[in-house]
Amino acid sequence: MTDVLNDDDLNEQFSPLMSPLVWDMGHIANFEEYWLLRELDGRTAHDAERDAMYNPFDNPRWTRSDLPLLGRAEATEYLGEVRHDVEGLLKRVDFVDGPHLARNGYVFEMVVQHEAQHQETILQALNLRPDLEAYALSAIRTLPKTRAVDDAARITIPGGSFVLGTNDMAAAYDNERPAHEVHVDTFAIDTYPVTNNRYMQFVQADGYDREEFWSAEGWGWRTGVDHDAPQSWDRSANGEWTHTMFGHIRKLNPAEPVMHISYFEAEAFAAYAQGRLPTEPEWAKAATWAPGADRPRRYPWGDSPPTRAHANIGLVAWGPVPVGSYPEGASAYGVEQMLGDVYEWTSSSFKPYPGYNTFPYPEYSEVFFEDENFRVLRGASWATSLSVTRNSFRNWDYRERRQIFSGVRLAWDVK
Ligand code: AVJ
Ligand code: FE
Repeated sequence: MTDVLNDDDLNEQFSPLMSPLVWDMGHIANFEEYWLLRELDGRTAHDAERDAMYNPFDNPRWTRSDLPLLGRAEATEYLGEVRHDVEGLLKRVDFVDGPHLARNGYVFEMVVQHEAQHQETILQALNLRPDLEAYALSAIRTLPKTRAVDDAARITIPGGSFVLGTNDMAAAYDNERPAHEVHVDTFAIDTYPVTNNRYMQFVQADGYDREEFWSAEGWGWRTGVDHDAPQSWDRSANGEWTHTMFGHIRKLNPAEPVMHISYFEAEAFAAYAQGRLPTEPEWAKAATWAPGADRPRRYPWGDSPPTRAHANIGLVAWGPVPVGSYPEGASAYGVEQMLGDVYEWTSSSFKPYPGYNTFPYPEYSEVFFEDENFRVLRGASWATSLSVTRNSFRNWDYRERRQIFSGVRLAWDVK
C-alpha cells in the first residue's frame, strides 16, 4: 500500500493530522516485536530506542517527522526480521495452556488487528493526496449488483432489553467486553446509511451557514473552518458536484453513503432532517439483536463470516457503494449496510462498559475514556479488514475529525 510513494513522500508529513507513513511502518514492526517477541516470548529489545520513537503517546502525529525514523528499507527489514521470528514462535506456542496472552490466540489476533487498523490509517493519509490518481485508477474495484431502494426508508426497533458487548476472549478488544444487559426505548433507524442524495439537500439548503442546525460546539467548529460540504466535495464549473479520492475526481453518486463528515456535520445534518444520531446501544441493538434472541449476533446477518454478498469491506470496492447493494447483509430487523462502506457516528462518548477490565494494556482503550471529546463510531468501512469487522467493534475519534471513512445513519424517537 505504501509502494505507491517514493522515499521522500513516505518520509514527509503530508497532513498534520496523519503520520509520515514511515512512522506507521516502523510502529507496526515495533508493536509486533514488543507483544510477540518480548512480552510473549521473553526476548530482550531489538533496539531500545525504537520503543521510544514509535510510542504514539510520547510522539503525537504532528511531531513524528522530527524523529530519526527508520527509512523505508530499514523499516521493511525490521518488520521482516520480526516476522521471521514470529513464524518460528507460532510453531511452538501453546494456545490452550500457554501464557495468558496467547490463550485463544489473543495476542496474535491483537497484532493482526493492529496492523490492519494502521493500514486503514495509511489509506486515509494517501486519500488526502492530490497526486495519486494513477494509483486510484489502478485499483481493481469490484462492485456489487445493486437494487433501487428508497434511501429514506426507516425501520422501527422495539424497545426492551438486549445484550450489549461480548465476552469473546479471542478477537475482541477489552473495550468490547463484557456482555451486559441494556434497555433501550422503541426507536426508528434509517434502513441505510445517509446517502449523498440526502446529505446534498442539507448542503443545498445552506445548512452549513444556518446556525439553527448546529450545536454550540458544532457551530464553533464550523465558523473556525471554511468547509461548506464534506471533505473532498467540490462543485465543478457546470455546477455538478464531484468528490475526490486519492486525487481522482469522480462525479458524486447520489446513491452512495455520504463519507468524510465530522461528528459536528453529522449532528447538524440530523437536526436539518429532524432526526438525531443513534446512541451506541441503539445502533448495537439494530445490528446485533433478533426478536427472541438470547445473545447478540457476531455480524448483522448472523454468525457466519462475511462474503462479498454481505458487506463492502476489505478494499474490494475502494469506496462506498450504493445503498441497496447488500440485502443479504441485513440485520434481523432488516437494517442494511451496518458493517462496511462507512463507519457511522453515534451520539455516545467513549466509555467503558460496566465490568470493564483493561487487557492487556491501558493505552489501547482506557487512556481515552476520560476525554469527553471522543465519540463512538460503529460498523466498519470499505477499507476495514475482515479481522476488524464485527458487530461488537467500537471505534472512536474526535468530533471534528473527517479524514476517517465516516458517515452516519439517523434515529428517531417513536412515541
Ligand atoms: C481504534 C482506530 C481509534 O488508530 O487510534 C492503532 C487504533 N490503536 N494503534 C487509533 C489503534 C493503537 C485506534 N482506533
Ligand atoms: Fe498503533
